[in-house]
Amino acid sequence: MKNIVILISGRGSNMQAILEARLPLTVAAVISNDPKAGGLATAQKHGIATRVVDHRAHANRAAFDTALSTEIDAFKPDLVVLAGFMRILTGDFVNRYRGRLINIHPSLLPSFTGLDTHRRALEAGVKVHGCTVHFVTPELDHGPIIIQAAIPVLESDSEDTLAARVLAEEHRIYSQALRWFCDGRLKITPQGTVTIIAARGAGSALVSPTFDS
Ligand code: GRF
Repeated sequence: MKNIVILISGRGSNMQAILEARLPLTVAAVISNDPKAGGLATAQKHGIATRVVDHRAHANRAAFDTALSTEIDAFKPDLVVLAGFMRILTGDFVNRYRGRLINIHPSLLPSFTGLDTHRRALEAGVKVHGCTVHFVTPELDHGPIIIQAAIPVLESDSEDTLAARVLAEEHRIYSQALRWFCDGRLKITPQGTVTIIAARGAGSALVSPTFDS
C-alpha cells in the first residue's frame, strides 16, 4: 500500500475529501505550516498523525524547507500531497521530491497561475474555469498536468459562488489522481507531460455558454 503525507495551511477540505475517499493508501501524516490550520483537527479526528512546522519560526525559506523535509522524510512517503499548502517551496525542496510531489490549483492551468484565480477568471470574462492537479516543478504552478475539471462560468457568478463550484470539483479530481497514482498508472513522459495508462476514452466537449437550439 502506498504511503502519503499531506501538507496543508488552512481548512483542509481537499485533505478531508482524500481522507474520506477510501483510497487504497495510507495517510501517514498531515503537516501544516500554520498551527491554527483548521484541517489539523479534522486529521486528528480521523486518527491521522499531525505535525506543525511553523514558517514564522524559521529565519528564511531554505531553513523552513529543511525543517519541513525532515518531518516529511520521517514518514517515508511515496508521495507528498500539497492540499491548500500556501507556502512557495525552494527549488531544492521541489527537486528532492521530483516526481513524487503533487499539488491542486484552482484554475485551468496554464491560465491563472498564482493567487486570486477566481477573481481574475471573472475579470477576464472566461466562460470556462476549473481546477488542475499537477506534479510540482520549481516553476510555480507549471508542472506536468495530471487531471483537470472544467466548469461553466455563470453570468450570476461572484468570486464565492465560482470558488465553491470549483472546490467541489477539486475534491473529486484529487482523489482520482491519487487513485491513478496508487494503481501505478501515472507516467511522466520524456516530453514532461503525464500519461494515464489505460485511461478511459475522452469525454465530450464542454461548450459554455451552450449553443442555441
Ligand atoms: C483550494 O482551492 C486549493 O486549490 C487552493 O487553496 C484552497 C484550499 O482549500 N490552493 P482547502 O484548504 O483544501 O479547503
